[in-house]
Order: sequence, then C-alpha cells, then structure tokens
Amino acid sequence: MRPPTPAARCTTGTARLGNPGYDDVLLMFSVGQVPGKLECFADGGSTMVRFVDDTGPEWSRRYRAMSTERLALTDPVEEVRIAFAERFGREPEGIWAAPGRANLIGEHTDYNDGFVLPLAIDHRVTVAAARRADDRLRLLSLEKGERELTLSDIGPGLVEGWAGYVAGAMWSLAREGVEVGGLDLALTSDVPVGSGLSSSAALECATVLATRDLYGGPGDPGRLALIAQRAENEIVGVPSGIMDQMASMACIAGHVLLLDTRSLVAEQVPFDLDAAGLTLLVIDTGVSHALADGAYAERRRACEAAARLLEVPALRDATEADVAAAADLLGEVLHRRARHVVTENARVLEVVDRLRAGRLDAIGPLLTASHVSLRDDYEVSAPELDTAVEAALRAGGLGARMTGAGFGGCALALAPAAEVDAVARIVTAAFAGQGFRAPTVFAVHPAHGARRLA
Ligand code: GLA
Repeated sequence: MRPPTPAARCTTGTARLGNPGYDDVLLMFSVGQVPGKLECFADGGSTMVRFVDDTGPEWSRRYRAMSTERLALTDPVEEVRIAFAERFGREPEGIWAAPGRANLIGEHTDYNDGFVLPLAIDHRVTVAAARRADDRLRLLSLEKGERELTLSDIGPGLVEGWAGYVAGAMWSLAREGVEVGGLDLALTSDVPVGSGLSSSAALECATVLATRDLYGGPGDPGRLALIAQRAENEIVGVPSGIMDQMASMACIAGHVLLLDTRSLVAEQVPFDLDAAGLTLLVIDTGVSHALADGAYAERRRACEAAARLLEVPALRDATEADVAAAADLLGEVLHRRARHVVTENARVLEVVDRLRAGRLDAIGPLLTASHVSLRDDYEVSAPELDTAVEAALRAGGLGARMTGAGFGGCALALAPAAEVDAVARIVTAAFAGQGFRAPTVFAVHPAHGARRLA
C-alpha cells in the first residue's frame, strides 16, 4: 500500500463550493473508482466537507464529489499522476494544464474578424500523458470514464462526446505534418461543462500542448490555438471562432487578453481586480446551451450576409454609421445583428482604454451595455441570464453581462469586493423568485494560459 499523500490525511477540509447559502447536504462522490459519501455542511460562512465513508486508506488519497456541486480536494496534478499510474501501470511523461475562459467583453465578434477581451479562469483541464509505440489512444477522464480508439478512427463526426475533443486535437496536430503516434492519457477537469466557460477549448488546448511536447509541432501559441480550433470545427463540428482557444493558450495571470481576431495579434492588458477593490463573479445559471444546435451557426450566417450587403470583407470593417445608413438594405433582423457587432467592437476598445487609464472601476456600464445589445439586438440571451444581470446590478454590481455564446450558461458581474455576498444572495433570491434552479456563484481570477506543469 502506498503512503497517503498529505491531502489524504485531511478528511475534513474547506471546499470552495462557491454557493453561499448552501445547506447541509450529502454529496455522492467516488474515491478512486469506489463510490462513497461526502458530507457538506455550512460552518461560519464557509462550506466544510467531511469524509463519512470509511473506504480505507488506500482510497483516501482522492475525494471527489460527483454531484452537480463538484469537489476536488486534492491537487489535480497529483490526481492525474496517480490515476495515470494506476490505470496504465507506468509513470506519465509529463503533465499539462489548460484553463477555461470568461470573456470580459467582445461577444460574437470573433467570427466577424473583430476584437475580444477574455481572461483565463482558475478552472482548468489537467492531463497526464505518455507516448505509445503503436497508434492506440487510451483515454481516461476522471469525470467521464474511459475510451479507447486508434488514430485511424478519428475523423469528422466519428468520435462522440468528450473524447472527440482529445482525439480531434491530436488529429489536427497530425494535419500540420507532425508524426503523431499513440498516447495514454488521463485527465481531470474542473471547468463547468456546457456553461459557456470553454471546457471544450481547455480540453483541446491541454491535449494539443501535451501532444506537441511529446511528438513535436509549432511553438507559437497562435498556431497552437488554430490547431485546437480546427479540432472543434472539423472533428466536433462546431463552427466556433478563435477566441476560446486563444484565451486558453495565450492568457497570462493578472491580465485580460486583447485579441484582434483578424491578425491574431494579442496584447496583455493588466487587470488587477484586487488593487481596484473589485471582484469578478461568475453566475452559472445551470442552463446548458448547445452550440451545435444551430443558433450559433445561424448568427454566423446572418453576419456574413450583412457583411456582403455592406460590401465589406467582414463586419469588423463596418462602422456604426455604415450600419445605420444601410438599415433598409439590411432589413430589420440583419440590421440589429450587425449593429450588435459594430457597437460591441467599439465597446471592447473603450474598455481597453479605460483599463489602460487605470479605471477598472469605470468599465461596468460598458459590460451592461454589451448585455443589452446581446439581449435585444443579437438575441442570444436567456431569461436566466437577464435575471442574473438585473439582480446583480440591483445588488450593487458595477456592471454585468452574459458571457460566451449565450442561450444559457454564465453571466459575469463586476462588483465591489465588499458587495459580493449581497450580489450572490440577491441573485440567488431572484432565481428562486422566478422558479429557476439555484445558480452557482463564484469569483474568478485572471489565471495563466496553457502550460506544462511537470
Ligand atoms: C463561443 C465560441 C467563440 C465565440 C463565443 C461568442 O464561445 O466558441 O468562438 O464566438 O461563443 O463570443
């Protein structure tokens, strides 16, 4: 029996459930492959967890909640290393991580050659991997289970579910001329899935980076992001832009990333929430959007049609005045879609100006204006997102908006640090009042992009 890691001795700990007002609850979880129970209870404002199943010391290294409130009490690096060694009977060659992202502003602009301003969040995919001598892929997700396939099985639409992102990333790197071989890979993720925080880009980027380090390939983060995006576009079949993969690959801690999605020129803009006494909250509505279900692709086509009518290469090249002047030509719907894109690009640049001027506390109204535009002109919000934004503003938030593709997922609220509890409480109450399921509210900090950890 291996000695327990330090975390194993901690059978009671503080967990960031991020859900104020959380009641006593028993969560189902598994330790290794063994299901067990974890008791959570509120204690002086923080949520405590206690091991209530004696599953034995050999299993007590990892505690994981499998319910909607997911807990991972141990270091993910240690977790994937141990899981890899247990499953594949050898040590991994390395460990890599890639984060999810929140987009501060610049929504539905990336496929219009426009500007975006995302940050990497402190939720990530961590992978342990090692090469194989054959062309097999043995993939173990600590959350989703196991998949086995060969490189020749990978093609557009052929690999279902989470494994498609991993296999697609390897396929895409091979399309660059890299001689990609087989892989054993174990992964864990604490990026909420289907919440608009780019869990899929995190999976793609972590895999691209691991495969590149093991089998070779480009060093430039922009090239690597394009490789990850190709996996999403061609293998998974979602016509997403480049924002999520660039954010996951290229962000650095303490900054937001100003990205020109036409040239892929990226600039790190300091984003020091602590110095400004502010907190960036994510309000996860728990309503899942399905990017692939057509609405996203439909918005893309509308933008392309508007650009054609305006006789510009992309909506990035049109001004607000151009769009206003072409209202009749565009027709009611395309006019509103185009107006969102051109005004959103302007808002991104204005937010960057204010950040550069040290006025982080002055960006709130621009975030809220972005939401209004997405809700009314672009029509990609949802009742839960609108409720989250309205309640966050009522509770003292400086600005709030949906983030990501929309149709559910998450909202962001920028709030004075002192008001965070009030925002969470009032948003949660507003959801209850509407009969929506309780949202999960948590703070995010601008984190590091994809990198090798061991
Ligand atoms: C999704 C896509 C991105 C971007 C956003 C909307 O996250 O993956 O490329 O288009 O939606 O801003």
